[in-house]
Amino acid sequence: MNHFYITTPLYYINDKPHLGTAYTTVLADVLNRYHRLIGYETFLMTGTDEHGQKCNQSAKQKNVPVQDYCNIMAKSFENTWKLLDISYDLFFRTTAGWHKQAVQKCLQELYDNKQIYESTYEGWYCTSEETFYTSKDLVNGKSPNGKEVTKIKETNYFFKMSAYQELLIEHIHKNPDFIQPSYRKNEILGFLKNPLEDLCISRPKSRLEWGVEIPFDPNYVTYVWVDALLNYATGVGYQQTERKEDFEKWWVKTGALHLIGKDILITHCVYWPCLLMALGIKLPKTILAHGWLLNQSQEKMSKSTGDIMDPVDLLKIYNSDNLRYFLMRGVPVGKDAPVSHDLITRCINEDLSNNLGNLLRRTSTMIHKHFDSQIPEISNNKKMEPLKNLGIQTAKSVKENISTLQPHLALEKIINLLNETNKFLEQQAPWKKIKEDKKETADILRTALEILYLSAALLKPVMPKKMDQLLKSLSCPDKWPLEYFERGDFPKAGEKIQELPPLFPKIKSEMT
Ligand code: ME8
Ligand code: MG
Repeated sequence: MNHFYITTPLYYINDKPHLGTAYTTVLADVLNRYHRLIGYETFLMTGTDEHGQKCNQSAKQKNVPVQDYCNIMAKSFENTWKLLDISYDLFFRTTAGWHKQAVQKCLQELYDNKQIYESTYEGWYCTSEETFYTSKDLVNGKSPNGKEVTKIKETNYFFKMSAYQELLIEHIHKNPDFIQPSYRKNEILGFLKNPLEDLCISRPKSRLEWGVEIPFDPNYVTYVWVDALLNYATGVGYQQTERKEDFEKWWVKTGALHLIGKDILITHCVYWPCLLMALGIKLPKTILAHGWLLNQSQEKMSKSTGDIMDPVDLLKIYNSDNLRYFLMRGVPVGKDAPVSHDLITRCINEDLSNNLGNLLRRTSTMIHKHFDSQIPEISNNKKMEPLKNLGIQTAKSVKENISTLQPHLALEKIINLLNETNKFLEQQAPWKKIKEDKKETADILRTALEILYLSAALLKPVMPKKMDQLLKSLSCPDKWPLEYFERGDFPKAGEKIQELPPLFPKIKSEMT
């Protein structure tokens, strides 16, 4: 069996999830479900990044002990992902004891191999990004991303990242799929044209206690990058003797697809691979950086600007399937995309109510009315062939689009198929034809039902609940549908289709 391992970033818990973090998580779930549908054994990991100053500060502001604060916030992420039907295999928390021990083993190994040294650091620290900057990195006295920085001078531990620069460049050239899309790869190669500096990986406990204690110096902790980046490997068993087989299976043999937003490109495509090289373990298969969801002012939707959409609020208006559909259809992977109530409503109404919903309503109404709810026999009518061929083409393209990590293109193809089927119904007008040619009417409806079956199976990873209802109402299997569709195996002739409540009621714009 083929294996597929996919991860999201571990989100900071200084605030609850917003639509941006929901986007990455839904994208991971959709890609994961597609791979499951195609027949892979899959593993999806998401979670929370709980150490560091940001979290500490938020807990203090709320007057809650920091571990309690972490527990509350991690729960709020888990709950949101449940409401969005994210089917993860592991919800990872950096404060888990087993992870902290694994991180300490890594640190000790790096220290023993002389990859970590002590030195005095003078520079700028950005709490919002939990990142150090040198003076030449700053733009108008702020971080390159426009965030506040503070000057600090302290003795710290450093990882010899500079020693891995050439090896990393070579790896990127030799593995064209390592960083995707290719424009992000080029951005990293551009960044690597300048000399890479060593990486400060510690904080004195006197300034920050909320981290993983450095095993060779209890006066210091490590946090955020060395802690959180290691999650992708520790989550599948790295540095845990009792989980050697898991690590072998998911990390060494499979290799993962790591989804990130372009905001954390450098940490993931530079810091992390250097750390892994120093530890002597395999580098990740693919890091895919997507773009940003933009708010009303066309800026990145983010906790710090506050202009965000809360997925839990949105779910009260749109429901999970609809929202997941919009995120996958409205945001081309890799690109920035605007989000607003108007765009969500339009997308759902056009694609789901007017197109898929309409096809379902027309077809099932006629079957109930004129065929006693029974599914007509397989048709050999030549008129149906172009549509049937388009269906086969669509399933093939969907598979291709998923393997190239472009679910938005897969949805475009499915919507096109549904559009063509609606057009065909309008041309053929079975509601008129029923009076003169019941056989051909049956052929038309049979074909429409086959297309509905195919589309429901292909859309299920995006809309698991509604498509499950649709497949069940047609008594169709929840499996990769291409071969069944080619043979016309489903829906089974003679069986009755079950009444469904309207799956895609139109969303009124007043609601927004
Ligand atoms: O960076 N559009 O956590 P974070 C799309 N803890 N995606 C967005 C987004 C937006 N407007 N805003 C956030 C961290 N995201 C670290 C990661 S991993 C070892 C440690 C998504 O809470 C996107 O995936 O700031 C982005 O990379 C991530 O949330 C950042 O989450
Ligand atoms: Mg962030």
